[in-house]
Amino acid sequence: MPTSALLRKFRDRDPLVVVIAIIIEYPHGRDRDHDNDNDNDNDLRRSQDIRTAALVDPDYGGLQRVRGGVMRAVEIHIATGTQALARLAAGAAVLDAEEQARAARLRVAADRTMYRAAHVLLRRALSRQGPYAPAQWRFVRGAQGRPEIDTTACPDAGSLRFNLAHTPALVCCALVQGRPVGIDAECRRPMQDARAIAERFFAVEEAAAVAASGSPGSAAEAATFRALWTLKEAYIKALGRGLTMGLDGFAFRLVDGPPARIELHIGDDAAHPTAHPRAHWRCALLRVDGERCTLAVALLAAEGGRLQAFLHGSGSSQPAVPQAAPPGLDLAASTPGVELSSIHYA
Ligand SMILES: CC(C)(COP(=O)(O)OP(=O)(O)OC[C@H]1O[C@@H](n2cnc3c(N)ncnc32)[C@H](O)[C@@H]1OP(=O)(O)O)[C@@H](O)C(=O)NCCC(=O)NCCS
Repeated sequence: MPTSALLRKFRDRDPLVVVIAIIIEYPHGRDRDHDNDNDNDNDLRRSQDIRTAALVDPDYGGLQRVRGGVMRAVEIHIATGTQALARLAAGAAVLDAEEQARAARLRVAADRTMYRAAHVLLRRALSRQGPYAPAQWRFVRGAQGRPEIDTTACPDAGSLRFNLAHTPALVCCALVQGRPVGIDAECRRPMQDARAIAERFFAVEEAAAVAASGSPGSAAEAATFRALWTLKEAYIKALGRGLTMGLDGFAFRLVDGPPARIELHIGDDAAHPTAHPRAHWRCALLRVDGERCTLAVALLAAEGGRLQAFLHGSGSSQPAVPQAAPPGLDLAASTPGVELSSIHYA
């Protein structure tokens, strides 16, 4: 697909040295009966403020197992930086034969590391929530390429769903119980062509927003492009469509705060595959390590959700980077009903 090839140019190869995980947690309701079963989630639910904690289990690559609980949250696990990705990739023995083969086919070493790191991270994250060890997860792909858990091979996975994204500088995945979720991330890099690409692929108002955000080739213009791009890709990935759906039939608007807001406008394109009201979409835009990387999450959850983050550095329980508050990650903007409530380390 021409757009896929075009978009690969956007990848940022800046090295960072951080691994992060995020959770969007459902606020109330149907899972309360499981409170006593799930110490870890309870601990997270009580936290209204951003805080940190160590969650370390060597068997799960630094992620503590959630014991017997029902997942209430979207978890997003992120690894950035060459060291962090290399550490994850070193655990590639847990990948299945197809993943091993796909990694081996990638010609560039950094791409192989990226791919392996993303899939190891995904498997470890799944094992934090599901009843299988990292090597036991099996996957199938939908008609448009979206990977899902193979519930024939993993019948006890329940309705756990996920999405992942990878760049050579950052890999991430999102986990959720029974809801569409999409994730995308892009890292900062100089862009001379942001305006032209936005005009070619984005909705008209988004292209106008990119053009109005700064002079051509400026950091401000690139940042606006990156924010819109990650949101749009997270959304189409949540729908499972990928780029086959086109990027101009819906639009995100970034509204200055505080708090900064995201608005989603869904057009009346007959090809648009969702009957879900736009108000049911929860979208969040996060800054990773200041302005260095942008991460977007799109979740279909009418009741809203809380965003919880795990920041993992080099496998220790200590932050890998000098910390501000919140360390290494903050919520740049969101739709109503999304809250960043905590950050954890592993
Ligand atoms: C999904 C898509 C938007 C990903 O864009 P990207 O920037 O190249 O890659 P990202 O790092 O953001 O995401 C890649 C991951 O998305 C997931 N993915 C693939 N197809 C997906 C889909 N239709 N919906 C949601 N997620 C998808 C996969 O897990 C993939 O990683 P993996 O192959 O290692 O398992 C893009 O690849 C796409 O549109 N694919 C489907 C259409 C297509 O390209 N067809 C090609 C022939 S025309």
